[in-house]
Amino acid sequence: MAPVIETRGLFRQFGALTVADNISFRLEPGARHALIGPNGAGKTTFVNMLTGVLAPTSGTILLGGEDVTSCSVAARVRRGLGRTFQISALFPSLPALDNIALAIAERDGVALGLWKPASRRTAVTDETVSILDRLGLGADVRTRVRDLPYGKQRLVEIAVALALRPKVLLLDEPAAGVPSIESGRILDVLAQLPGEIAVLIIEHDMDLVFRFAQRITVLVQGRVLIEGTPQDIAADQGVRDVYLGESHG
Ligand SMILES: Nc1ncnc2c1ncn2[C@@H]1O[C@H](COP(=O)(O)OP(=O)(O)OP(=O)(O)O)[C@@H](O)[C@H]1O
Ligand SMILES: [Mg+2]
Repeated sequence: MAPVIETRGLFRQFGALTVADNISFRLEPGARHALIGPNGAGKTTFVNMLTGVLAPTSGTILLGGEDVTSCSVAARVRRGLGRTFQISALFPSLPALDNIALAIAERDGVALGLWKPASRRTAVTDETVSILDRLGLGADVRTRVRDLPYGKQRLVEIAVALALRPKVLLLDEPAAGVPSIESGRILDVLAQLPGEIAVLIIEHDMDLVFRFAQRITVLVQGRVLIEGTPQDIAADQGVRDVYLGESHG
């Protein structure tokens, strides 16, 4: 089967700085894959190229075997590429429910207006409630996003991404800034994501990475240092030297 995502020889320069340096990468169907590396390694830049927010200087990006290098963000979303949005992309003064319903409307290409048949609105509400339920947010559907604890706000981001029915989910530091008392909940949600969705996660929390990922790619200064199983990565002296402590040996 074709990889869900593949990059071939991806380069990106910012002026004299090379932030992606010949990245050839494959994300397999149903993968649980982590992209790790020091601050400034180019992880977010790489994801921004995958989603189409940023164009590569050269190289090729394929989704499901098709070249999407020059496709728009929206065209990639239509092909099943999901990602977590930044908090600022949520509507903080709207309830969690409405944030998801708007994502569903975007997915289905309809404006959510009062003129919509009641049956349609009911279907959207049912789907929305079921997504929020699955993420353990069933009690929070009517709560405005800004009144939710930060960890739950990040879960609403994941819910928005799931509402787009992705084949692949790109998560850029889903637990960043979340107090540890709430971050366990995020790990639970990640563990329960549908197996058919391939997941690429960028994360600095090594406990989370090593519990979640079946494959790990280490990026250093825009270059793939190594890719392998968590065992390969934990045992690699080069990785220890640049990034990991001794805690996973
Ligand atoms: N729009 C831009 N213009 C110029 N330089 C940029 C731009 N975006 C990112 N960079 C630089 O590219 C490098 C890689 O940044 P990037 O945000 O991709 O790293 P990262 O691996 O996600 O880091 P972190 O772990 O801190 O999130 C950094 O040196 C950053 O300053
Ligand atoms: Mg980043």
